[in-house]
Amino acid sequence: MSNPVGIVTGGASGIGLALTKHLVAKGYKVVIADTNSQAGEALAAELGPNTHFQQTDVSKYSDQAALFKKAFVWGGNRLDFLAANAGVDDRQNLYDPIINVDANGDPIQLDLTTIEVDLVAVIQGIWLFRHYARQNSKPGGKIVITSSMAGFYAAPINPQYIAAKHALIGLTRSAGKALQTEDITVNCICPGFIVTGLCPEPVLKIFPKEHITPMETALKAYDTFIRDDSMTAQTVELSLDELYYREQAPYASASQKWVMEDAGKIWAQAYISPPKETSYPSIN
Ligand SMILES: NC(=O)c1ccc[n+]([C@@H]2O[C@H](COP(=O)([O-])OP(=O)(O)OC[C@H]3O[C@@H](n4cnc5c(N)ncnc54)[C@H](O)[C@@H]3O)[C@@H](O)[C@H]2O)c1
Repeated sequence: MSNPVGIVTGGASGIGLALTKHLVAKGYKVVIADTNSQAGEALAAELGPNTHFQQTDVSKYSDQAALFKKAFVWGGNRLDFLAANAGVDDRQNLYDPIINVDANGDPIQLDLTTIEVDLVAVIQGIWLFRHYARQNSKPGGKIVITSSMAGFYAAPINPQYIAAKHALIGLTRSAGKALQTEDITVNCICPGFIVTGLCPEPVLKIFPKEHITPMETALKAYDTFIRDDSMTAQTVELSLDELYYREQAPYASASQKWVMEDAGKIWAQAYISPPKETSYPSIN
């Protein structure tokens, strides 16, 4: 039987690098996708023929589409696993005291790279993964998204990052349930502070050791999702040595619960794809 095949975005550094090594040790063939070609090529050379580096900017759809096609063909017409992991922090501060204006006096638009890389690219990744996973000899596969503890908690810094990571929690819980029909699981890891390339050097120097989550905790979470086919729509917070499976917030009222869980028949009339009518028919 051929080796399982995975894509790890942001695989040239930090969590993605550790996961790539881990998957290769478990017998996977891994396509390392990253903007950093120097580090990515070096890693693929170090790990040998069960890895391939593909320079990819996940925020460019054409790059991701080429990545998935390459992975599927290189892997022998199979794609089993996606770690949608590449991420950046905010390139521009929403609360910047200086707002530059153009020649017309209009504010120059805020840099939303974080949303493009950390959120939009993940959604496109799920979209592309579905296309290939359904062509597997046994259709289906597993997706693990990298959200963050910043997906559960708000703080004044990095607001776009926090928005993107919160969105990934909702995306995981929603897509994880919906894609069960295609035998695709979607889960996400939500790490606390792990020492990686994302952490600025001055922060690392002074960051208290007792608040650093070891990389092994992330690998433990990946292993759980890889091993257990029944786990989907799970959002696991990683803190120090522990995995905390987090539930969505309780419903404010029985009515809210009904609207989200039991009103499907009504919503289905509005979201028939492709839309058949502009006015919604009676539900009776
Ligand atoms: N390190 C932490 O404490 C921590 C905590 C919570 C969540 N995370 C998340 O973990 C993920 C991995 O980050 P990390 O901490 O390992 O950082 P890292 O900087 O070490 O690794 C991120 C990798 O993503 C790559 N990358 C950035 N933009 C890309 C793009 N557009 N296309 C492809 N690759 C791109 C970078 O080149 C880098 O190799 C991110 O999503 C991050 O938000 C990290």
